[in-house]
Amino acid sequence: MLGAAFGIAMSFYGDDKIASLEKRMEQLDAHATSATALAKASQAEAASATERASQLEAQVALMQAEAKKPKSGGNSLTEPAPIAAAAYGLGRPAHDAEIAAWDVDVLPDGRGLPEGKGDVWTGEEVFVDACASCHGDFAEGVDNWPVLAGGFDTLADEDPVKTVGSYWPYLSTVWDYIHRSMPFGLAGTLSADETYAIVAYILYSNDLVDDDFELSHENFADFEMHNTDGFVVDDRPELEYSEWSSEPCMENCKEQVEVTMRSVFLVETPPEGGSNSVMNPGTLDEDLPVFSAGQDETSLSDENVKTASSTELVSE
Ligand code: HEC
Repeated sequence: MLGAAFGIAMSFYGDDKIASLEKRMEQLDAHATSATALAKASQAEAASATERASQLEAQVALMQAEAKKPKSGGNSLTEPAPIAAAAYGLGRPAHDAEIAAWDVDVLPDGRGLPEGKGDVWTGEEVFVDACASCHGDFAEGVDNWPVLAGGFDTLADEDPVKTVGSYWPYLSTVWDYIHRSMPFGLAGTLSADETYAIVAYILYSNDLVDDDFELSHENFADFEMHNTDGFVVDDRPELEYSEWSSEPCMENCKEQVEVTMRSVFLVETPPEGGSNSVMNPGTLDEDLPVFSAGQDETSLSDENVKTASSTELVSE
């Protein structure tokens, strides 16, 4: 009885077990197949990655070889860049129209000027239309916009009026600047003829030409500006730098040193930003004495000088 029961149980168990083992085998088989497929795939991937890497290496070697080649013409900055299109595959030659659009500079001798002309009267019309809202009908400047006329003989003043007429040494700068950048906010909208006319009108506003004047690319270079000779070549490197770079005197340089003036300069950064510098005579701490230049000497006692936040020693 017990044996029969066991036998039955065994055979039940055995069937179950076999079925599940068979299932398990199938699963394992399937896994094995897909694992093999995966392994094959990754082998292929690895092979193509290796191939890609060697391609990249070859490309890098090419670029390095290209970079090592001597640049055309050595160190000159104005030489054309080496042609590296083969290695980089970037860019294209600029079109003539693109170069022309950039190549707008005008030189003092008139090089770079386009052909054209314009007279004072046409210039006045264009100027009143396009420029006067900021620079005034007569180039005298509206509010704080730049003044373009007048100011002659003020250049040596403390507050010189530097205008096209009084200050600018070359007419080419006027033509170039206006054609390139004005009207403010609408740069590049003026034709060559309009620019000639405007420049003629600005010269007229400065009393540098009569009202029948016409400016053109032909008479441009002949025009001499008021302040052409007002600029000098900076010769400080030759004449002064050697003096400044010599050994400074640090001891007994003057026989007598005398305090003639004191400056107080408070710099305090306000929490709201900006600057809050106060120059003497400003409102200062009560204990801090205030002097001004030319003050009588009695107030320049040792005591005062010691309390000063900074002392300027001026020697005669
Ligand atoms: C909206 C106002 C405005 C208009 C319109 C305008 N400008 Fe100007 N202009 C300026 C300002 C602002 C400057 C100063 C720009 C700077 O310093 O960067 C200037 C500078 C100049 C200067 C140089 C002045 C100097 O001494 O440095 C000239 C020349 C000039 N403008 C001419 C013209 C002409 C010509 C026109 C018309 C075609 C014109 N501007 C229209 C605002 C204007």
